[in-house]
Amino acid sequence: MSDAAEVSAQQQEVEARLVDTVVASFDACEDPRLKQVMVSLVKHLHGFIRDVRLTEEEWGAAIEFLTKAGHITDDVRQEFILLSDTLGASMQTININNEAYADATEATVFGPFFVEDSPAIELGGDMAFGAPGEPCWVSGTVTSTDGKPLAGARIEVWEADEDGLYDVQYDAGKRAARAHLFSDADGAYRFWGLTPTPYPIPDDGPVGKILTAVGRSPLRASHLHFMVTAPECRTLVTHIFPEGDPIGWKDTVFGVKESLIKRFEQQPAGTPTPDGRVIEGTWSKVVFDIVLAPGDA
Ligand code: BEZ
Ligand code: FE
Repeated sequence: MSDAAEVSAQQQEVEARLVDTVVASFDACEDPRLKQVMVSLVKHLHGFIRDVRLTEEEWGAAIEFLTKAGHITDDVRQEFILLSDTLGASMQTININNEAYADATEATVFGPFFVEDSPAIELGGDMAFGAPGEPCWVSGTVTSTDGKPLAGARIEVWEADEDGLYDVQYDAGKRAARAHLFSDADGAYRFWGLTPTPYPIPDDGPVGKILTAVGRSPLRASHLHFMVTAPECRTLVTHIFPEGDPIGWKDTVFGVKESLIKRFEQQPAGTPTPDGRVIEGTWSKVVFDIVLAPGDA
């Protein structure tokens, strides 16, 4: 294995000169932010190439990888987001852009399965729309960080079914296990969803091959997605994760945060439901109180 420490002073000078030349190529850039990003990108990219003493074969494999990622990407399959997610780059960007604010609910990764045109449900409605899984009663409140209830907050929810698939993975036009609803005058909300179960991220492409090569699992911790918007509040994109989940902290996209782990309490078959719905088997319930930071959404 090559070692950056063994490189002669003369060779180091050649390499450093190239970095300086590429950095200087952005001197005339009139957009200061673009310039900052490009200069830093070049410095880190060259730093990485020099650090690992990248071989030409490895460079070729990287280009082939990116080409395959491009070829498999379409309107519903986004391999580059999967790459970013599995390298922790998505979570790091979220951390930077959603700084902790008082007791505001923490954000986590968006994922590739949100769609704009989710069906609307009433408070207490069922977002499963026939998707298989154990019914789960989800309830809570939406408030601001000063404790005021937020009426009319838009709550988007989406999740995989118990077979580990999102509706759009069956058929781009299918809508199930997703919906939106609005909080009531007291900021409260409630709906029927599905008890989340672990599922693999799409791993039949180049990102899946990398995970296999490095001995990593493609499984995501079980979760239920939320996106919550309200006027003058920072939009919250998050999930809740069941306590005791078998994958939990081993989540392949590093999305789990302690504050987002919630107790999903399984109810024995025959337990009366909060709204009188008759359920044959078991069901679960979870409470998720959402606190939105101030912002300009
Ligand atoms: C998801 O939660 O839906 C997801 C997130 C990152 C990668 C793949 C899927
Ligand atoms: Fe998901």
